[in-house]
Amino acid sequence: MKESLQFLQAFLKNPAKVGAIAPSSPELAAEMLHGIHPDDHNIVLELGVGTGAITKFLREIVPSKASYLGLELDPNLVKTLNQNYPDMNIVCGNAAECYSIHQDSGLGKVRYLVCCLPFVSLPREVSDNVLAEIQKFMDEGCELRIFQYAHGYYLPPAIKLREALKNRYGKTRRSPLVLKNMPPAFTLTWSTI
Ligand SMILES: C[S@@+](CC[C@H](N)C(=O)[O-])C[C@H]1O[C@@H](n2cnc3c(N)ncnc32)[C@H](O)[C@@H]1O
Repeated sequence: MKESLQFLQAFLKNPAKVGAIAPSSPELAAEMLHGIHPDDHNIVLELGVGTGAITKFLREIVPSKASYLGLELDPNLVKTLNQNYPDMNIVCGNAAECYSIHQDSGLGKVRYLVCCLPFVSLPREVSDNVLAEIQKFMDEGCELRIFQYAHGYYLPPAIKLREALKNRYGKTRRSPLVLKNMPPAFTLTWSTI
């Protein structure tokens, strides 16, 4: 409840950056983490941690603190996240600089990119910069997972994003529709491994 309220407050403060009115459900989190098996040499990088709706489940699958790095732009959310998840590496940072932030962290290779950013509502320049950073990880061999809401799935910005990713990384793997999420969503995966 507290988490949902904090999420809603963050949304009301900055709707375009948050891009959702509620945190991801446990069902969407499970789909976002399906098949992800990190270790200290093959870590998970989570972009847009929010209130930790997915992090909560990531905590159960990372073998150690060194297997995970989370980035969140909103300093208020990061403060609460660090209180709630002291055993996870969560830093305040911009996903548009995620490659150098990861390099400076000294952590292992990013094998899994769990990206929760609202690409569709972010300014074009920001999403282009994030995609350029993601490219650097993908060039080194990585699996990228995002989610897209069903109601916006066939709107031009969502299609454009999928096309751009498909052109770079090939065929998309799409999950079944996760109905138990507000709003329902698909997860999408691209791999360069
Ligand atoms: C749709 S919410 C997802 C939150 C959470 N992962 C979940 O699934 O409930 C997107 C989050 O991305 C964060 N965000 C937006 N732009 C960002 C950026 N450039 N760098 C890092 N985080 C960003 C927002 O503050 C927000 O918390």
